[in-house]
Amino acid sequence: MYTLIDGKATATAIKQQIAEEVKEMVANGAKRPCLAAVLVGHDGGSETYVKNKVIACEQCGFESRLIRYEDDVTEEELLACVAKLNNDPQIDGFIVQLPLPKHIDEQKIIMAIDYRKDVDGFHPINVGRMAIGLPCFVSATPLGIMTLLQHYHIETSGKKCVVLGRSNIVGKPMAQLMMQKQYGDATVTVCHSHTKDIKAECREADIIIAAIGRPDFVTADMVKEGAVIIDVGTTRVPDATKKKGFRLNGDVKFDEVAPKCSFITPVPGGVGPMTICSLMKNTLAAAKKEYY
Ligand code: GUN
Repeated sequence: MYTLIDGKATATAIKQQIAEEVKEMVANGAKRPCLAAVLVGHDGGSETYVKNKVIACEQCGFESRLIRYEDDVTEEELLACVAKLNNDPQIDGFIVQLPLPKHIDEQKIIMAIDYRKDVDGFHPINVGRMAIGLPCFVSATPLGIMTLLQHYHIETSGKKCVVLGRSNIVGKPMAQLMMQKQYGDATVTVCHSHTKDIKAECREADIIIAAIGRPDFVTADMVKEGAVIIDVGTTRVPDATKKKGFRLNGDVKFDEVAPKCSFITPVPGGVGPMTICSLMKNTLAAAKKEYY
């Protein structure tokens, strides 16, 4: 019998702890932590993420600002917005929701963010510090997954971990954290579209972290008996039975994989809520100037 990892409940408990800490900070005269989010265009997924980030801020007792631009915003305008947020003492941390429209150089925008306010952990200074184990803002999804593994006392040390996907936001930082000394301490394999035999790699794994955005990619024949499965996928799949006309589909074929597992995350309600909760953690750390 497998254990279903409840990301929603874990995130709620952590947000409550944050809210209590903020209450005490404010009672002692500190200002409320403040997170700003920059949202470009009207992509459904991005709208939902940002809306949920604003709600989480309220739950944690943070202030939040939402800055919106239309799809035709210029790179110069966005860079000016970033510069303004960098210099605004009211703002402890901010994020620019990705993806951005094609005419904007995402990396240029990320590089313009003051690394001390980069609560997404996307700036090369934070990415580099994380890679060598220095205190820094860590990308929210990998950080949320590490928190879940710790919360459920899942042993990672010496385990074989397969990360599916090599994105800058999830795959790469996830692999770094899992291999990090005194953190994941795992033996990590990163698989991607050019990996020769993904099935064989997965079958060897004690822990699989699937972040490739391909619905139902991980099937039962790829999973070792007793493995831990973390599903990061959230592809919108048309579904007439749902109110919104779609459902969120993970990268794992849950029904057939779950019976083989020791632990597994559902979609939704697994990794997603933890990502937002980690962003709150990072924002609190920014307000407390914990790293910089
Ligand atoms: N798009 C998908 N995930 C994220 C995230 O964690 N942060 C930002 N800024 N954009 C995203």
